[in-house]
Amino acid sequence: MSQDLDTRLQDAVRTRRTFAIISHPDAGKTTLTEKLLLYGGAIHLAGSVKSRRAARHAASDWMKLEQERGISVTSSVMQFEYDGYHINLLDTPGHEDFSEDTYRTLVAADSAVMLLDNRKGVEDRTRQLFSVCKRRRTPIFTFVNKCDRVGVDPLALIGDVESDLGIACHPVTWPIFNDSAFAGVYDRRRRVVFLFDRGEDHGATRAEAQTIDANDQKLRDLMGAESHERLLQDLALLDEAGHPFEHRAVLDGDLSPVFFGSALTNFGVEPFLREFLELAPSPVSRESTTGVVEPTDERFTGFVFKIQANMDARHRDRVAFVRVCSGHFEAGMQVKQVRTGKSLRLPSPQQFLARERTAIEEAWPGDVIGVMDRGGLRIGDTLTDGDDLEFSGIPRFAPEHFARIILAEPMKRKQLDTGLRQLTEEGAAQVFYTSGTETAGPTPIVGAVGMLQFDVMLHRLEHEYGAACRIERISARYPRWVTGPVEEIERLGRDRGRMLLYDAKGNPLILFEDAWGLRWALERETAVQFHDVAP
Ligand code: G4P
Repeated sequence: MSQDLDTRLQDAVRTRRTFAIISHPDAGKTTLTEKLLLYGGAIHLAGSVKSRRAARHAASDWMKLEQERGISVTSSVMQFEYDGYHINLLDTPGHEDFSEDTYRTLVAADSAVMLLDNRKGVEDRTRQLFSVCKRRRTPIFTFVNKCDRVGVDPLALIGDVESDLGIACHPVTWPIFNDSAFAGVYDRRRRVVFLFDRGEDHGATRAEAQTIDANDQKLRDLMGAESHERLLQDLALLDEAGHPFEHRAVLDGDLSPVFFGSALTNFGVEPFLREFLELAPSPVSRESTTGVVEPTDERFTGFVFKIQANMDARHRDRVAFVRVCSGHFEAGMQVKQVRTGKSLRLPSPQQFLARERTAIEEAWPGDVIGVMDRGGLRIGDTLTDGDDLEFSGIPRFAPEHFARIILAEPMKRKQLDTGLRQLTEEGAAQVFYTSGTETAGPTPIVGAVGMLQFDVMLHRLEHEYGAACRIERISARYPRWVTGPVEEIERLGRDRGRMLLYDAKGNPLILFEDAWGLRWALERETAVQFHDVAP
């Protein structure tokens, strides 16, 4: 690698931040995303993400589903710049029902922002997504939103987060109230107060802030002596009794820096963004089958974390989203798909602002590129221009809901099989058969991580593959893949309360009707081995 390219690679890695926002629906993720884009100059008027999204909904059947349900089904990637940083924001679906996509997106992120509603604190969906991050030791930053209206006392809220999620917290900013109105935040690292102007435009433009010292008389006058006194006491208490700030602990995922703000009014968004960019990790090194890959390694490496078919209904295309892990990517570059040993040229990678695509010439570690795919790529595939290696740790998830899929017109079986095969490759469905050899035979069974995934499947099977279907739910919902002697597996599958199935690759699994039956089998059936996901 030339000296010049090496310097550019080092610079690119140093200034890249790739993260995802995790939250429960309604905490304000769309609003915060808009505001981050606003500060990043990617859009000029906040609100346009939503309105443009709505305008584009009309464009395809696929998006019609999103519009009907008022939800975002797919994850997209947004890139913007701020203060010399290149930021990749990986968007995860906002609906409370979710699919494996959401989880996999977190694997492509180097850090996560956990967004909380100041009245609700930690909610179900936050907990699920948090646990995925925690398992991977992903650094987690907390943003307490909606502080423009009265919420749970900040100290109590932090206490709840710590006890509920088992992570230590360190407030980096602290909310300041004028009577009960949110007036600004104190930045504990910079030791200044940011006072915001409400403005007349409901947060459509950046909030202007003036910075003053916490002991400034002006602040005392503004807040009133009593509130000001309480603020100083809170700050002293945090210094004495709170977790001290340790950057290493943040990077290890053991300490979450906490910020307070209001995405709607923009209060606290910019101080958050600034501190976050400074504290969040640049692209991290990743484990592979041949050892750790550093982002500054010369060879290009990346992995497919998501495949999306038919993003544009007019073109029936498939886009594979590749997270670049090391090296420099150039348009037209020849790379190897390690799983198949095939060499492929990546002619027109794309970069995304929501769903708008622009062709790009180059990409660096931390970036996500969209590669047009003719069906050869799979989730988890590693691409490289160097020696063979494969990235580990693209998690697979066992479905939690199962259903028989029944064709409206039995003649459409071929279309159904094509559709199911492609949705499986994309990771949008998991399909199972009651016989290990004869896929075209009995009624296929589909599995999903969240119920919404079934709606998406049915919609896509009908509109993209011409196979209108309905589903018939199966009550059994505890799958375990099994390995061991065939006759033992078949015997096991014949017992009551169980169903023997085969996944798309022919691996046998047993579906248990209840948790009790599953536990019983795990304890007693020692002639076979049980696995949570396909071995
Ligand atoms: P989501 O993507 O996490 O589901 O949340 P979204 O941004 O759509 O926000 C959910 C609701 O919360 C919206 O209200 C939004 O305006 C509101 N919200 C977001 N941030 C703040 C904040 O800082 N303060 C307050 N007070 N509200 C906030 P809505 O009435 O459901 O929708 P809309 O009519 O405002 O679009």
